[in-house]
Amino acid sequence: MSLILAIESSCDETSVAVIENGSLIKSNIVASQIKSHMRFGGVVPEVASRHHVEQITQVIDHAVADAGLTSVDEVDAIAVTQGPGLVGALLVGLTAAKTLAFVHEKPLIPVNHLAGHIYASQLIEPLAFPLLALIASGGHTELVYMAQDGSFEVIGETQDDAVGEAYDKIGRMLELPYPAGKYMDQLAQEGVESYQIPRAMLHEDNLDFSFSGMKSAVMNLIHNARQRGDEIVPADLATSFQNAVVDVLVEKTVRALAEYPDVRQFVLAGGVAANSGLREGLKSRLATDYPDVAVLIPPLNLCGDNAAMIGAASHHLFEQGRFGDLSINAKPGMML
Ligand SMILES: Nc1ncnc2c1ncn2[C@@H]1O[C@H](COP(=O)(O)OP(=O)(O)OP(=O)(O)O)[C@@H](O)[C@H]1O
Ligand SMILES: [Mg+2]
Repeated sequence: MSLILAIESSCDETSVAVIENGSLIKSNIVASQIKSHMRFGGVVPEVASRHHVEQITQVIDHAVADAGLTSVDEVDAIAVTQGPGLVGALLVGLTAAKTLAFVHEKPLIPVNHLAGHIYASQLIEPLAFPLLALIASGGHTELVYMAQDGSFEVIGETQDDAVGEAYDKIGRMLELPYPAGKYMDQLAQEGVESYQIPRAMLHEDNLDFSFSGMKSAVMNLIHNARQRGDEIVPADLATSFQNAVVDVLVEKTVRALAEYPDVRQFVLAGGVAANSGLREGLKSRLATDYPDVAVLIPPLNLCGDNAAMIGAASHHLFEQGRFGDLSINAKPGMML
């Protein structure tokens, strides 16, 4: 049994959750800063840190009350994102977590944000190992093989941009609001595939990705059309890009399943897991090619950054007594 208060502050969401046994959400408060960063077209690290400082105590109080608790004393441990992320943003959550752990004499559990994205699915259904996860987010694109809880083998990854980053940069050029992934996805559902976008690394015999070239191909199309005074159709461009992205991500996932035939469950993780094309593409292809592999795709509110996923990822660490002490520091480049 565990009742854990979890804190997430790696980027532009201040979030606190109370999670029972790594699977039941008692509360999950997410204070988004998107509006503040929108006018800059991206996250400004210093602005993010200041917002976290302003929000964190209120969000903790809110999460405690929402869980029906009267005090932090009632939880068994404090979990917190240690990395990867923006150092100033991480430090706010980490300092709050250390303070709570010290004052209430609770164990402190440092958690990897990417492990959190994978464990978000444990809030839906128990994870079954061996497991294959595709993390598709703002900063990462990786295929991860997990033999058991807490064991992560990165078997494929992007060689350059993350898929979410590519979405955001193209969306910005199309003058969509930040973060543009969601708006690109909406546009993609209205268009038809009419632009040729390369499927980078699709035919290379590995499990890696590359999105920089695909992003540049789209941006060049826009740029050249504008110079010639030609009209481009944003919805068609979004559809063309999305189809290319989904093709590559689905194909490499299927290839990973062929290389790791013992996999029992597939988990889609990270902010781009909210993408409608990717959700559909993976579901239908895996149902046909790997009907025995269970497919777990979290609901939209658990795809983006949130503390519930950090609470979920901390449960097995709690059971194994894998605690941190008050000297732990933020790890902006932390890997799985
Ligand atoms: N429907 C969607 N289609 C495509 N991309 C989306 C969609 N919804 C959100 N995104 C993208 O997801 C990304 C945010 O995901 P997430 O919050 O996991 O990233 P992050 O926390 O900044 O990075 P990381 O998790 O790698 O550290 C953004 O790039 C955003 O545009
Ligand atoms: Mg994230």
